[in-house]
Amino acid sequence: MNQADVKQQYDSFKKLGLKLDMSRGKPSPEQLDLSNSLLDAVGSFKAADGTDTRNYGGAVGLTEARTLFGNLLDVPAAQVAVDSSASLGLMHDVIVFGLLHGMPGSAPWVAQRPISFLCPVPGYDRHFAICESTDIKMINVPMTAGGPDMDVVEKLVAADGGIKGMWCVPKYSNPSGTVYSRETVRRLAAMKTGAPDFRLMWDDAYRFHHLSDEKVVVPNILDACEKAGHPDRAFVFASTSKITFAGAGLAALAASPANFHWWQKHVSVRSIGPDKVNQLRHVRFLKDKAHVEALMEAHRKLLQPKFDAVLEHFAEYLGNLEGVNWTHPKGGYFIDLVTPPGLAKRTVALAREVGITLTPAGAAFPYGKDPNDSHIRIAPSYPSLTEITQAAKGIAICLQLAIAS
Ligand SMILES: Cc1ncc(COP(=O)(O)O)c(C=O)c1O
Repeated sequence: MNQADVKQQYDSFKKLGLKLDMSRGKPSPEQLDLSNSLLDAVGSFKAADGTDTRNYGGAVGLTEARTLFGNLLDVPAAQVAVDSSASLGLMHDVIVFGLLHGMPGSAPWVAQRPISFLCPVPGYDRHFAICESTDIKMINVPMTAGGPDMDVVEKLVAADGGIKGMWCVPKYSNPSGTVYSRETVRRLAAMKTGAPDFRLMWDDAYRFHHLSDEKVVVPNILDACEKAGHPDRAFVFASTSKITFAGAGLAALAASPANFHWWQKHVSVRSIGPDKVNQLRHVRFLKDKAHVEALMEAHRKLLQPKFDAVLEHFAEYLGNLEGVNWTHPKGGYFIDLVTPPGLAKRTVALAREVGITLTPAGAAFPYGKDPNDSHIRIAPSYPSLTEITQAAKGIAICLQLAIAS
């Protein structure tokens, strides 16, 4: 298609006067409705062991909530803390505790500055925001089909004791949908690190968020680390943000006994105890792993058609364009649209002019800087199916125009 034709299509699309926000991977109202009975699920306020959930106490969470997450994460309940209403805060806490107090047996990270974290890219902007706000230098690591490029990772961590951590979204990564292979998990657990207090920030945000019949399983990182002789290497995080209510759910941290006790010690200073009423109603509503999986199937029924619509439209409008490709995730919340170098920002700006708000180009990279300016994060979950279908077409037209002009 020549430039004039694309421009004409773009102008007609603009006349539709759309107003679509696809900037964040939020669950849709229909998805949130799936958990409405949570609002009445608490019944009595007494937990199984007689705890009055209305009162203070229980720094690492209610026993039945820890058991539920233990089963979901495949970790003994004694090594699971349930806390807060979303997991990002727990990740922030681990980093701030590390900075102020140091990891078990090590000096505070602040006393060891300059320090860095490895950041597989593209990745999750809010992970990067935590590092930026705490003055932890970020080092990009390229993603491969099986997770971060392990040759690069192993080389970097072995040589530099200032590298204290690494962000990992092992399943259906945000935004690429990448799944870490067995070999990647094994190498992450086994690699030699210059820093004895190096930690994997294992963010299992999309553990149950499948979009296909293939329910991908990633090996248990705590087991892998223990087996490799590095039992304290990983902190695992998860939440029900995209299972029940986003930001009003439950979050969990799982860790080795030493890391767990470290966490318990520091978290007991920051709070007299979490919201156990919310924990109890979640346990009564979610019940067990089988019920969680059934609920996730209901989410999938709402989400999958939206992903399919985007993928179909991209194939139709962008299929033959050189340098353009996109991911076909088996789960999670995002599609990564890759443009020819230098065109992501321009495409996002063109989309804004036709009423489609996308995540700013570059957001999936540390410091907001995509060195090739070529990644656009597509978040199909929130708009309706009709809207997302229109938006996919609109984004494709914008990219066509960016290429043609
Ligand atoms: C990789 C990843 N981790 C964490 C979160 C946020 O989780 P929470 O709501 O539990 O803070 C998101 C949300 O998009 C995410 O994509």
